[in-house]
Amino acid sequence: PDERGAGWIAVDVLAVRRKVIIDCDPGQDDAVALFLAMSAPDELEVLGVTTVAGNVPLELTQRNARMMCDIAGRTDLPVYAGCDKPLELEAIPAEYIHGNTGIDGVDVFEPQTPLQDVPAVDYIVDTLRKAEKGTVTLIPTGPMTNIATAIQRDPAILDAVERIVSMGGAMREGGNRSPSAEFNVLVDPHAADIVYNCGRPVTAMGLDVTHQVLSTRERVARIRDVGNAVAEATADMLSFFHRYDTKKYGSEGAPLHDPCTVAWLLRPDLFETKLCNLSVETRSELTLGHTAVDFWHVTDRPHNVEWTFAVDAEGFYDLLVERLAWFGS
Ligand code: RIB
Ligand code: CA
Repeated sequence: PDERGAGWIAVDVLAVRRKVIIDCDPGQDDAVALFLAMSAPDELEVLGVTTVAGNVPLELTQRNARMMCDIAGRTDLPVYAGCDKPLELEAIPAEYIHGNTGIDGVDVFEPQTPLQDVPAVDYIVDTLRKAEKGTVTLIPTGPMTNIATAIQRDPAILDAVERIVSMGGAMREGGNRSPSAEFNVLVDPHAADIVYNCGRPVTAMGLDVTHQVLSTRERVARIRDVGNAVAEATADMLSFFHRYDTKKYGSEGAPLHDPCTVAWLLRPDLFETKLCNLSVETRSELTLGHTAVDFWHVTDRPHNVEWTFAVDAEGFYDLLVERLAWFGS
């Protein structure tokens, strides 16, 4: 209460600039997540970008991540190459969605952004060992092999993790790569199991929410109208990326999966989440990679994730268009 003893003085909560590591497998939607993160220097300090085999093999995902840094004018960003295969399974290709380059829609070039010599897992472990308690947010937008490997190597690094904001899994939406599993978790269910159950706060963005943010022609046109190189690259990639999903789901526009993670960090008010249990099927041949989300709390399993189930789709695209304009300012 103020000196008059009545009412309350509005207190501006200090906006703490969040340190983040983005672990990705570009992938057009990973690329847009990288752009969105780089567009918010006042809110997000991108410590580094680690890459993993997923949509396409590692030699392409690391190259694609470096290309996006070039396009965004961030050749200073350290990019690391990580695991080239899942913990226990063989890799699953996804060129049929993302094209042979992994980022079809933009012309491939040899990026200026260098690839760091240090392996991604070493970088994650070393960075978290040096970081203060609860200060680093991890944003996995591909198979979670790198992060799981880092945790296995030194579980104590988790003390430095403020939160993990992941793209993966599905509840009501079933699966996209198998009838019952979402791609990132299906590729490496053992890694996902380790990450979802690591004991640190996890915000899980699954297909249930990403299928609500479709990159329709109108939205892609809005992005293109922003009129800078980053927005143009985004529009070009989305113009390719949506073909597969449009044919498969009959809906116009591809779900913009990975940027939902960064968008939640910037504008959590656009999303609705519920604390509940998420468990991963790691054994069944039929349902490998399935994420059993106990949304209605019908079991006594621990509530290990904030499951995201709703989003203001127009607000999401307003945010994306607004932030892409930052690159031209
Ligand atoms: O299932 C969607 C996820 O798989 C996205 O992260 C996409 O980039 C692919 O990695
Ligand atoms: Ca991805």
